[in-house]
Amino acid sequence: MLESLRGLGYSTGAALADIIDNSVSAGASEVLLDFHWDGARSRISILDDGRGMDDGELESAMRLGDKNPLQVRHPGDLGRFGMGLKTASLSQCRRLTVASSKAGVISCLRWDLDALAATSGTDWLLFEGPAEGSEECLAPIRERCHGTLVLWECLDRVVTPGYTPDDFLAMIDRVEAHLAMVFHRLLEGSHPRLRLLINRRRVEPWDPFMTGSPAKPWTSSLARTFTVAGPVEVECHVLPHQDRLSADEFTKMAGPEGWTAQQGFYVYRNQRLLVAGGWLGLGTGRAWNREEAHRLARIRLDIPNTADAAWKIDIRKSSARPPVSLRPWLTDLAERTRERARKVFAFRGSPVTGPRGGAVEPAWQAVRTRSGTRYRIDEKHPAVAAVLEVAGEICPLVRAMLRVIEETVPVQRIWLDTAEGRETPRTGFAGEPDETIVGIAGILYADMVGRRGMSDEAAKRLLMATEPFQNYPALVASLRGNSSNDRTRIG
Ligand SMILES: Nc1ncnc2c1ncn2[C@@H]1O[C@H](COP(=O)(O)OP(=O)(O)OP(=O)(O)O)[C@@H](O)[C@H]1O
Ligand SMILES: [Mg+2]
Repeated sequence: MLESLRGLGYSTGAALADIIDNSVSAGASEVLLDFHWDGARSRISILDDGRGMDDGELESAMRLGDKNPLQVRHPGDLGRFGMGLKTASLSQCRRLTVASSKAGVISCLRWDLDALAATSGTDWLLFEGPAEGSEECLAPIRERCHGTLVLWECLDRVVTPGYTPDDFLAMIDRVEAHLAMVFHRLLEGSHPRLRLLINRRRVEPWDPFMTGSPAKPWTSSLARTFTVAGPVEVECHVLPHQDRLSADEFTKMAGPEGWTAQQGFYVYRNQRLLVAGGWLGLGTGRAWNREEAHRLARIRLDIPNTADAAWKIDIRKSSARPPVSLRPWLTDLAERTRERARKVFAFRGSPVTGPRGGAVEPAWQAVRTRSGTRYRIDEKHPAVAAVLEVAGEICPLVRAMLRVIEETVPVQRIWLDTAEGRETPRTGFAGEPDETIVGIAGILYADMVGRRGMSDEAAKRLLMATEPFQNYPALVASLRGNSSNDRTRIG
């Protein structure tokens, strides 16, 4: 059974998170992870300053399923199944030694799969004390009057044939990124609840929501609902467009799995992250996939540990499914967040409203019909309306031209370029010199004050409500005044 339980599918980071969960539940404020490279004899240890275990408690802790999952847990407890210590450890190693100190008395027990395989009979052989030659590894716990040390040796699932020291270092980096994310809320603040060190280096929290960043386009207010299994809290976030982030910020905020993979729900249980992204099987009609266009949407969702059964929490603490009763509520919140995130992504972070929050006349309309979406040029857009008004007898020709443009929007090309280039192609004069923008805006301005007889002020107001000029208030303001013989020349 122990050999079978090794295959639960933990990554090294997820396995370590499960061990750290136990430390947090035991009231630890500091957890030290030590990765020691020594080829096939490499080892990993986890040392905490929690309350520790006495002999009896340790013996129980080493048992599979030592606690009933139906049992009510302390509200801050991160455990549920009475399995993690064993399943997480043995998913990575063949020898698990746990030494715990309580009231200055040290107890030590060990599961050793190779020693077990070598014995006949049906007894469960839980060994006492460290393996021969490993005594030194337990030295740090001897200096503590409370705390626990978990030692993983014979790391056959980590150090596989051909594994190099560089692979070991890369694994440590992945683990650090994972733990920085999973425990970020415990690691944050000037007085964090938890300090986590890997080979003596402090793990810095990674906050998926860029809390407090002025570049963020949107954060919802807190939404709360009460279920029989306890309260559920949701806060929706839209992260800034790439253009509003430095290259370093953009790379950092992508997260361990990258922007597209990290979109969606972040489910926390007692502040500990269970699920990092994805849409929880929600969707309108079909379940939503993680798509490039929604990569800026991230939703924080908090559940208490009384909701474990209702949310189908798994042993690895890596998955959760919302109860059916909550799906409509969550779908609605998610849909609104996705829509906002899509707009920010598509409009390169520029507001879709004018500077004072007023509506902006778009040049294109997306018309959704039963048979699909069509893109139409908006005839009310001042640049289009002006031409149609003066077109006279060539009006049909102009309309035919517009129709041809609409029918040949290079949708697939744009879609491919966006997906491959990982960003939206340039539009809205992005990257163009000021003269170009002033040149085009000037032509429209001249038409407004000249042909249409608008005042300087009215023309500028109209331009500020016209896509894409609403993004260039300083340039619009700089357009020449409306003295009748001092008009910007057309052409
Ligand atoms: N670092 C630790 N300090 C103190 N007690 C611990 C520690 N690690 C484990 N324990 C004790 O051992 C028990 C078993 O741990 P284990 O991780 O196997 O299961 P769990 O945490 O109860 O549930 P889950 O399977 O959901 O993790 C814990 O409930 C706890 O009482
Ligand atoms: Mg546990």
